[in-house]
Amino acid sequence: MQINQEQFNDITQAEYYMRECFELAKKSLGRTSPNPVVGAIILDKNGFPSGKGYHKAAGAEHAEVIAIREAGEKTKGGTLIVNLEPCCHEGRTPPCTELIIQSQIREVIFSCHDANPLVHKKGEGILLKNNIKVYSCVLESEGIELNKFFFKWVKSKLPWVTLKQAQTLDGKVALSNKQSKWISGEFSGKEVHNLRNIYDAVLAGARTVEIDNPELTVRGIKNSRNPARVIIDLNLITKPDSNIYKNDSVIYLVTRADHSRDKLDNYLRLNNNLKFIQFPEVTKGKINFKHLFEELGKKDILSILVEAGPNLAGELISGGLVDEYILFIAPKIFGDSTALSSVQMKPLDNIENSYEFRLFDYKSIGNDLMLSLRPK
Ligand SMILES: NC(=O)c1ccc[n+]([C@@H]2O[C@H](COP(=O)([O-])OP(=O)(O)OC[C@H]3O[C@@H](n4cnc5c(N)ncnc54)[C@H](OP(=O)(O)O)[C@@H]3O)[C@@H](O)[C@H]2O)c1
Repeated sequence: MQINQEQFNDITQAEYYMRECFELAKKSLGRTSPNPVVGAIILDKNGFPSGKGYHKAAGAEHAEVIAIREAGEKTKGGTLIVNLEPCCHEGRTPPCTELIIQSQIREVIFSCHDANPLVHKKGEGILLKNNIKVYSCVLESEGIELNKFFFKWVKSKLPWVTLKQAQTLDGKVALSNKQSKWISGEFSGKEVHNLRNIYDAVLAGARTVEIDNPELTVRGIKNSRNPARVIIDLNLITKPDSNIYKNDSVIYLVTRADHSRDKLDNYLRLNNNLKFIQFPEVTKGKINFKHLFEELGKKDILSILVEAGPNLAGELISGGLVDEYILFIAPKIFGDSTALSSVQMKPLDNIENSYEFRLFDYKSIGNDLMLSLRPK
C-alpha cells in the first residue's frame, strides 16, 4: 500500500510516541504483577504532548488515568497513545474506556490488544461504538515483547521461565571442585542484577545454594526491589543459616510433604517471609516442575529467572519448560573434561534429537557475549 506524506507523518509520530510509552511502561517491569506494564501519553488537539503516566503497581491507577488527569482540559479533541488496549472492565480500578469517553478524546492509538478475555477487542469495540477513532497494532511485536510475562501468564496461567547461565567458551559452568564464581565479568554480573530486578522470582536448586551460598537479591541498582526467591530442596540439605535465608524478602522453599515440624521450624526462625511449598507427589526424588510453575502462577508470579546448574537446566530444557535461555559466554577456556558442562541430560544417541534454539538477541557486555535464545 502506498501512503501519502501526511499519513507518513502520522505513522512516524504514532511510532515515536509509542516508543515513549514503552519507555514509561518499562519503569514498572517486575512491579505490576499480575497486571501488565503500561505507559500512556496524551497529545492535545494540536498534537502537543500534554500528559503522561505509567501503571506503577497492581491496584494502583492505570497509566491512562494518570495521563488524562495531567492533561486536564487538553484531552478534548486530543489523542491517547498507550501500549495496551484500554481496559473496559471493573477490576481493582474502574474501566479506562469510560474515562476516555468522558474526557472527549478523539482518537486512541495502541500497540497490542489485551490478551485478557475480559478485555480482548472489547475495549477497542466500546471506543469505536462511541465514535472514537482507533488505530491498533502500532509496533505490535515490540508491545507484545514488552509484556511477554503478562501475555504468557494470562493465556496459560504459567509464568514465563528464563533459564540463565554463565559459561566458558568450552561450555563449562563450574570446576569439578564446584567453584563457579566469577566465570563471567563484572558487567555481566551487573546485568544479572538488572534481570533479577524485573523478574517476579528467581529460582535455584539446593546444590547451588549449598555450594555457592548466594543471596539471589538485587544489589547496586537504585530503587530496586528483591524478587521472590524459590529454592528447590526436597531433602532439606541447605543450611538454615545460608545467605539465601538471611534477608527478609519472600522465599518459597520447595520441599517434600513429610518433613518433621522441627526441621521446618529451623528455617522459619531466620526468615519471617519464608513459606513452604510442600509436594505430596515426588517420583524417584523428582517433582514435576510444571506443577510447581502452576503453583507459582497462582501466587501472581508471572516471570521466573532460573539461575541453574547443569542438572536443573537439563531438567527444564528436556521438560520443554524454558521460554528463554540467557547465556553469558566468557572468553575463557577451562579445557578440563572433569569440569561441569552447562546442561546435563540423559545420553543422546542421535543429533536429530538435540534441543534446538533460535537466536533471538545478542550483545557484547564488557568482555563477554550475552545471548538470548528462544526454543525453535
Ligand atoms: N555458571 C553458572 O551459571 C551456574 C549457575 C548455577 C549453578 N552453577 C554451578 O552448578 C553446580 C550445581 O549444579 P546442579 O545442577 O547440580 O545444581 P542445581 O542447579 O542446584 O540443581 C540441582 C538441584 O536441584 C534439584 N533438582 C533438580 N531437578 C529436580 C526435580 N525434578 N525435582 C526435585 N529436585 C530437583 C536437585 O535435587 P537432587 O539433589 O535431589 O537431585 C539438586 O538439589 C554448582 O557447582 C554451581 O556452582 C553454575
